[in-house]
Amino acid sequence: MVDVEKVLDEAGLTNPHVRDYVAYWAGVTGAERVEVVSATDDERLLKESLEAGELLPVTGGRYYSRSYSKDTARSEERTVVATSNPEDKGVYNNWKPAEETVKTLTERMTGASKGKTMYVIPYLMAPVGSPLETYAAGVELTDSRPVVQQMIRMARVGIDYINNLADPSSFVRAVHVTGDLPNLGQGTDKDQRLFATVADQRTILHFGSSYGGNALLGKIAHGLRQACYDGRASGKFLAEQFLLLNIKDKETGEDFHVVGGFPSASGKTNLSMTFTPDALGDRYEVSFYGDDIAWIWVGEDGKLYAFNPENGVFGVAKDTNEGSNPGAIKGIEEGSGAIFTNVAYNEKTQEVWWEGKTKHHPDDLDGWIDWKGEKIANRIADELGDPWAHPNSRFTIPISRVPNAAADYNEPAGVPVDAIIFGGRTRDREPLIRAIGDVAEGVYDGLTLGAEATFAAEGVEGQLRYDPMSMRPFLAYEEGDYARHWLKIIGEATDKPAFAHVNWFQRDPEDGHFLWPGFRENVRALLWLKAFQKGEVKGRETAVGVIPTQEELDLRGLDLPQEDLDRILNIDVERWKQEMGFREEHLNQFNLPEEIWEAHKRVAAAIDEA
Ligand code: GDP
Ligand code: PGA
Ligand code: MN
Ligand code: MN
Repeated sequence: MVDVEKVLDEAGLTNPHVRDYVAYWAGVTGAERVEVVSATDDERLLKESLEAGELLPVTGGRYYSRSYSKDTARSEERTVVATSNPEDKGVYNNWKPAEETVKTLTERMTGASKGKTMYVIPYLMAPVGSPLETYAAGVELTDSRPVVQQMIRMARVGIDYINNLADPSSFVRAVHVTGDLPNLGQGTDKDQRLFATVADQRTILHFGSSYGGNALLGKIAHGLRQACYDGRASGKFLAEQFLLLNIKDKETGEDFHVVGGFPSASGKTNLSMTFTPDALGDRYEVSFYGDDIAWIWVGEDGKLYAFNPENGVFGVAKDTNEGSNPGAIKGIEEGSGAIFTNVAYNEKTQEVWWEGKTKHHPDDLDGWIDWKGEKIANRIADELGDPWAHPNSRFTIPISRVPNAAADYNEPAGVPVDAIIFGGRTRDREPLIRAIGDVAEGVYDGLTLGAEATFAAEGVEGQLRYDPMSMRPFLAYEEGDYARHWLKIIGEATDKPAFAHVNWFQRDPEDGHFLWPGFRENVRALLWLKAFQKGEVKGRETAVGVIPTQEELDLRGLDLPQEDLDRILNIDVERWKQEMGFREEHLNQFNLPEEIWEAHKRVAAAIDEA
């Protein structure tokens, strides 16, 4: 048995509650060694992983990792929220009773880290000194070294974050045990994987994956699911799968801080890292705060504030190139320490490649292996068209590597929220942008966010599904209560944010091309929203919100077919009528507050008259 007390003494980990927790799980998992880590251990751990072959070197001090081939995305089906209150059961949260969930997971984890090291990762999901800091401290225990390296990039990691807590017992207990990946029955009816947030015990128990979305517990389970629960339990805040960015008008000095909820793999990272289109000159500057999570609260001055609890970016690699996302290309350049997961790798030249990095894959196949580790040169005819990289392959970098990171991203006070936008992949119906003037209608719009499923979660790509506020995979309690909590928090704000719905993904019904060029050009839609909020443009009223006129949208330097513009700046009334029926069915599943139904009826009536 490992002498846990001795290890913790040597590491200077003094918090007695953390010590008890570590000792308990070291006992359960049967780990052979225990090691307390902090961000300063990064270099040594990388070296160890290279030696062990868990990571492969990429040119310029970067790293390549592959997760097991049936373990490449978040598994929503195997993810549950457990509490001891059945009223927390919602439609999407896979609610389970706490007691039996803890029992099941304790059994699965028993002895499951035998022969391995259990790493103790103390972390903070907030800028230091933030008013929400009491909800932000956690300790992840993991038996995977690559998980440590990813956590060091994605969270603030160090022992001081948990030694000096105001309430030493107030930290999230987050246990990650990888399990025997080839023998877990992934996707079968004997699937052993289970990812649980035991929210009323502030305990996270994830078994059966080493993929980031299931294994980086500070990010995915604490930053979103646990915080969603804590935000409501405390009555103090919202924790949402939102990006956070600012557009500064350098002429007037004005800021426009935007949070945005788009489902996974729908453009949050790209939008938050974007540069402004060259054709608009250098008047506006976009700065990055966060690409996946925002915690939002009402400050003492009555304004709505937000910060990003994370410290890094876990971005989709596919289609990342100089044209689509120059910020990301700079962020992952040589010397960045980036970790690439499930992309293609060249064993000879130590380069990486993914679909969309360049127009065509490298001509010389020599040395290339795909995301499963198979040699590309050995592919048989049938396999030649298969992707080299997994569609959900990722890069991981700290925010400090993001070239347009905001100077104040670490500021504990957060930034005031001027606008809340929702969006996703919707191939028809949703115009480029529609502004929504009323808070209840804005919240209603978030609750009826519908988008195509993507590869970031296991499931069918391209299928339309509702994803309230983009939180479907992360909701911790019943949807009606979630709506009430939203109305309460936004209701308490004296300055109401603007709401809008955006869509970069409308397609031509015949040939399927994207009607809007997207990426950097998306800034144009947000600039219109800013002008609209200030009363500088009026837009055109429609049944579902105010849409920009073509003249109001700054289209300098773009040459778009008029028929494409007509489509994205209009609403398809017939499709919307049909949609209102789907929405009614969707909303009927929940125990919603009356304000939301009233908003629905107002929109439905307006569409009927349109
Ligand atoms: P996130 O998971 O929400 O952060 O989404 P990402 O920003 O990582 O984008 C997911 C995928 O959508 C990537 O393959 C991007 O290249 C693609 N994408 C992002 N923004 C746009 C856009 O404006 N237009 C189009 N066509 N694709 C986009
Ligand atoms: P994404 O973040 O939203 O960028 O995909 C990771 C995830 O949600 O799994
Ligand atoms: Mn996400
Ligand atoms: Mn992202």
